[in-house]
Amino acid sequence: MATRGRFETRAIHAGQQPDATTGATIVPVYQTVTFTQDEVGRHHGFEYSRTANPTRAALETCLASLEGGRFGFAYGSGMAAIHGVLQLLSAGDHVVVADDLYGGSFRLFSNVLPRFGVRFSYVDATRPEEVAKAVEPATRMLWIETPTNPLLRLVDVAACAEIARRYGVRLAVDNTFATPYLQNPLALGAHVVVHSTTKYIGGHSDVIGGAVVVDDEETAQTLQFTRNATGGIPGPWDAWLTLRGARTLALRMRQHEANAARIAAFLAERPSVTAVYYPGRPDHPGHQLAKKQMRGFGGMVTIELEGGAAAARAFCAATRVFSLAESLGGVESLVGYPWTMSHAAFPPDEKRRKGITEGTVRLSVGIEHVDDLCADLEDALAAARAA
Ligand SMILES: Cc1ncc(COP(=O)(O)O)c(C=O)c1O
Repeated sequence: MATRGRFETRAIHAGQQPDATTGATIVPVYQTVTFTQDEVGRHHGFEYSRTANPTRAALETCLASLEGGRFGFAYGSGMAAIHGVLQLLSAGDHVVVADDLYGGSFRLFSNVLPRFGVRFSYVDATRPEEVAKAVEPATRMLWIETPTNPLLRLVDVAACAEIARRYGVRLAVDNTFATPYLQNPLALGAHVVVHSTTKYIGGHSDVIGGAVVVDDEETAQTLQFTRNATGGIPGPWDAWLTLRGARTLALRMRQHEANAARIAAFLAERPSVTAVYYPGRPDHPGHQLAKKQMRGFGGMVTIELEGGAAAARAFCAATRVFSLAESLGGVESLVGYPWTMSHAAFPPDEKRRKGITEGTVRLSVGIEHVDDLCADLEDALAAARAA
């Protein structure tokens, strides 16, 4: 039975009824490989934990509810989830991909899947007409992220969904940056939503995971069959930690966003910051679209520093509250250098073409006190100017 209520209520109750045998209020960690059957073929809905596990099932029900879909699937990482979706395809199929995408997805699409006969065309999906132009007879899927990583560009999900419908293909959206709290691609017409739950959903930088949510039963059956056949599941502890994170997603996102908006405004006033990319700023090219398809602007801020590589590297080395580290979406603030970190998989020319330079710095704004974050950034800007 679907849990009713608003987002915050579903985050805490969907899939999380008291345990049927013990009454445990919190979903237990079912750390078991197998489930004893009463007689051959008669069991309580679970046989073997690769196929299904009650802790994982609770997480999947919760995430499906938060994304507004009927079927959720948890995976061992965001990349395993992305790979799981691509396994809906067969040799000879073609995918149109938004070229502004996570470097790890690009690595999978350019170095691994072509060996299995799947082809990819990259387009500037901020212009949906480019997506439509790239569709071929063999196209089976459109793949987008929005907001994009690291420049936080906006892609019109409803416009891409319309193109997908026109050509009878699936639209898959990586919703990691927005989170289900701020954006629900299925409601905008997408067929598949993907998350790296490692980021905001887990929210504490202590568990790697991924998820897929769909509303269509046939797609769900194929995903379940393929994941069971290939085995990319999370363990029960990881599923439990991710579910614990999901329960506070709304609260955290509100604070991430409040802090990010303050920091974007603060950095925009600093002369050595030559660009601030934050969809909440009225001068951001995707601001109107963000207002239309999202319920807020998120916690990521990317900046361009005067002084190129030397300034950016000095900035990243000088922060004390922001940790210089891969990843994003945790309660702690992180600073990243896309040129050699998250976007290392892209060749330099490709990075420049996208607008990522040696002076680009990405901030995952955490939920610490915003005054401490601003003071830390002020010190790092001084270090960058001195470099
Ligand atoms: C937008 C996006 N999608 C997918 C992934 C991959 O997720 P994971 O690291 O959990 O495999 C990442 C990781 O940074 C990401 O930023």
